[in-house]
Amino acid sequence: MRIFIEQSEQAVAQRAAGLIFENLANTDGPFGVATGSTPTPIYEQLSQLELSPSMKLFALDEYFQIDPNHPSSFRQTLIRELVRPCGFSEDNLHLPPASADESEIEKFEVLLNELGPVKIQLLGIGSNGHVAFNEPGSELESTTRKVKLHQTTIVDNQRHFQGEMPRFAVTQGIATIMRSEALLLVARGKHKAKALASMFGVGDLTPASHLAKHPNLIIVADSDAAALIESKSKS
Ligand code: PGA
Repeated sequence: MRIFIEQSEQAVAQRAAGLIFENLANTDGPFGVATGSTPTPIYEQLSQLELSPSMKLFALDEYFQIDPNHPSSFRQTLIRELVRPCGFSEDNLHLPPASADESEIEKFEVLLNELGPVKIQLLGIGSNGHVAFNEPGSELESTTRKVKLHQTTIVDNQRHFQGEMPRFAVTQGIATIMRSEALLLVARGKHKAKALASMFGVGDLTPASHLAKHPNLIIVADSDAAALIESKSKS
């Protein structure tokens, strides 16, 4: 595991974008992408760097039964924040289906296997320790599936959503995420400190705790998010 602790939002974004670039330069990915307030400044930085216009992109999750043209769908968010600014193609952006249709979900997992493994997977972390929409209680063996959102997630994400937040989503599972060659987890803010510490065996186990088993895990955090792990990261 490698840990970088940075002092500002911009420094976090620059560090994360630099690490993504190192893993993706001169390749077509796949790049595993995330949504939320954490990735936004990282994508701004990435748009300044020269990545292949043929980059393949796999998203972690999508809201259940959302219209793909809804401005708060993860498809539209990624097109706006990442695909267009970086000069990628919408045809290369793959998201889990917004349905519980088993054959559609299976198709997504198969495509991810065929085009994968993901070279680097960007991840945020929920204040409850969720990764993608793997909410507390999610198992290490979980794969892509429909999930019910935790109340904390609904409250945390409402600010990003135009209209009433959906109650369900379809998310890559923890086993799906663990197949990536590298994981880059980024955390900012005091409200993430407990969740981040759960990856180091401090406090309750969370879905993020499972990721500590990955052989190539990189964490980038600001000092607020790293408040409960600083002694560990120096050792
Ligand atoms: P945030 O969400 O980046 O908006 O804090 C992170 C997450 O829920 O994974």
